[in-house]
Amino acid sequence: MTKNAAPDRAAWARAMSDPAAFAHEQAQLGQVWTLLGLTTDIPNDNDWFRATLGGRSVFVQRFGDMIKGFENVCRHRFFPLRTRDRGNGVIRCGYHHWQYNKDGLAVGIPHCQELFGMTPRELGARLTPVEIATCGMAIFGRFAAPHATETLEQYLGDGYLIIQALCNRTTPPHRLTIKAKANWRALFHIGLDDYHLVAVHPKTFGKDGYLKQDTVRYFRLGRHSAYFNGTENDAIVSMIAQCRDGTYRPYGYRIFQFFPNVSIVQLRALKSWYILLMQYIAVAPDRTEVRIWFYPAPFPATDKSWLASLVRRYLEFWMPPFLWAYVRRVIREDASACEQGQTVAHQIDGLPILGRQEERIAWFEETYAEAMQAPPLPPPPMASGVSDSGGHVAVAFTKDNK
Ligand code: FES
Ligand SMILES: [Fe+2]
Repeated sequence: MTKNAAPDRAAWARAMSDPAAFAHEQAQLGQVWTLLGLTTDIPNDNDWFRATLGGRSVFVQRFGDMIKGFENVCRHRFFPLRTRDRGNGVIRCGYHHWQYNKDGLAVGIPHCQELFGMTPRELGARLTPVEIATCGMAIFGRFAAPHATETLEQYLGDGYLIIQALCNRTTPPHRLTIKAKANWRALFHIGLDDYHLVAVHPKTFGKDGYLKQDTVRYFRLGRHSAYFNGTENDAIVSMIAQCRDGTYRPYGYRIFQFFPNVSIVQLRALKSWYILLMQYIAVAPDRTEVRIWFYPAPFPATDKSWLASLVRRYLEFWMPPFLWAYVRRVIREDASACEQGQTVAHQIDGLPILGRQEERIAWFEETYAEAMQAPPLPPPPMASGVSDSGGHVAVAFTKDNK
């Protein structure tokens, strides 16, 4: 920048409308621990599901008691290995039948010696790995980078204990996906904003007027944050202590936001506690998929009578349609507001003016800015039998025959 250049006041929002800035943003986020799915999606050996990490298609697969992740791109000629959302089976590409082992190494290559002049081991073609770590039933992943050395536990900080307590279940939760024609960050912002309730949700959250500031508490947990309904200033401290010693039981409407794109809501309906796990998956600058999982809060019931347990089972069966109708309505209202905002996202020219009920947006944006400044991901290593200048062993692929 020259001495007199004007500050770039729109830089923070450019990825919300500009495809190149969006691609850069997603590449940077590929090295941040990101929720990919749940262990309940892959209970059996060789179960797999497809996910998105940093704007790239990846898949996660169970191998016995190990969970591994790879970029969903064949090393031969870059075809997707997984073409559905989930399934079960070995890693075999549908284009020429290259087969990979649990380390992502191509070990089964049809006519390898004849066509490539060496064995699969000598060729050494590998899938790009995704680092995997779990917390409760949540599976997180990131692309390896030399500077990204934090473990998932370190990355989540005290939030690790909270996820471990709230996302802990062996049977698959109910799930729902909602598509929005708006940027993922705008959708995440609206979840960090308690000021919009009257204007955007006049018949639900906002029907009683503006939220009274002294009835809620916001807490910052490193890169993450929390909303607690209530007035206890140290409620988060006691919750973390209880999660640590296993005595936590749900209390109060609470929302936890984990950078970059996960929200966990603890809510009470018909005298029972439930968890909504939501993820905002960036598809394009102006398109987002909101994935939602819903399940009863994973804690022993306080009322253990047969009647109470019958009511709980009845509710677990009948609750989803009612809850989905409510959640769909609220998220659609949020999405409509963000879709309106998206029409002028390219005109953003300055910083937003944030009030106290939007404080968590500023926290989120601080973390986002840090993530954007991290060194970029290094390119994946070449196969050992392939030269770095391009081309493979059997047929040259040079500038002349491109
Ligand atoms: S592209 Fe996968 S085997 Fe050829
Ligand atoms: Fe909202």
